[in-house]
Amino acid sequence: MAATMKPLLTDLVSTVSSVPPNFIRPESDRPNLHDVISDHSIPVVDLHHLDGPNRSTVVKAIGQACQNYGFFQVKNHGVSNEVIDKMMHVSKEFFHLPESERLKNYSDDPMKTTRLSTSFNVRTENVSSWRDYLRLHCYPLEDYVNEWPTNPPSFREDTAEYCNNTRRLALRLLEAISESLDLEKDHINSALGKHAQHMAINYYPPCPEPELTYGLPGHADPNAITILLQDGVPGLQVLKNGKWIAVNPIPYTFIVNIGDQIQVLSNDRYKSVLHRAVVNCKAERISIPTFYCPSPDAMIRAAPQLINPVQHPSIYRNFTYSEYYDKFWKRGLNAETCLDMFKV
Ligand code: OGA
Ligand code: NI
Repeated sequence: MAATMKPLLTDLVSTVSSVPPNFIRPESDRPNLHDVISDHSIPVVDLHHLDGPNRSTVVKAIGQACQNYGFFQVKNHGVSNEVIDKMMHVSKEFFHLPESERLKNYSDDPMKTTRLSTSFNVRTENVSSWRDYLRLHCYPLEDYVNEWPTNPPSFREDTAEYCNNTRRLALRLLEAISESLDLEKDHINSALGKHAQHMAINYYPPCPEPELTYGLPGHADPNAITILLQDGVPGLQVLKNGKWIAVNPIPYTFIVNIGDQIQVLSNDRYKSVLHRAVVNCKAERISIPTFYCPSPDAMIRAAPQLINPVQHPSIYRNFTYSEYYDKFWKRGLNAETCLDMFKV
């Protein structure tokens, strides 16, 4: 097989000493790594007091972060170091499996519920991104776990445990976010229908020329909230006032961001903020986002309490999450938000 015929980047990288042409961004769309802000990050919220008498203080901190950044980090989140370590470990083992073993899971069909793929959507994109990823649907667990990889042998068990833990955290965060918008604690929970949960394991191999390409170009997440675990290698950057801020790793901390569906539910009080992943020439990087979502048939609309004909008129038409999700994957990652297609 010619080197360029390798479907996965992980197997291509060892054969190249420069970035192949299909990964090179036009000059107007490159990371400009020297312009990235590294001495200021996103807020860290301690969830220790979320379920006690000081709940309102924590809820307020979450609301402020959602409003000002669309992003925050959480510590004392209730997911044990052991669960996190096992998830990170089995992820690394997966991407270090022989090519033939990994390729058993390969598909470029975005609608497949378990698949290993590369870049973002190879069927529609013009420029590739420096990433391979394993994507899994994971709620309800019993509907999907039997599709998941069986190699490494502990993959299903470790990942299922991780999913249960991040789901519990997502539900607590959705309650806090509802309250921070002065909605009933249960509002967002109900608005998501039967709920869905997806995850990705992103694998970014070292890149010989990180200034020419992205791991993931700037994008907003289409789901409700994302809970991201990253390893010790920096790469995530968040847009704030027109500048990219580096989110440097803090061990055992999750990064939470508002996705497009909360932007709609909040009638634009909270924004689904652009973020990107850059690569580096030294180290592989793994990040594991949990995408907490509405179920496909959930009808998404702004909370009536947040619509006011004069000050806050309704911004988006009603739509089902499946309609949104389909458009998201078809149009490709793009700095112009997918939400614009749903404005009234
Ligand atoms: C994503 C994402 C960031 C990262 O997968 O949607 O934004 O650091 N990942 O990998
Ligand atoms: Ni993202």
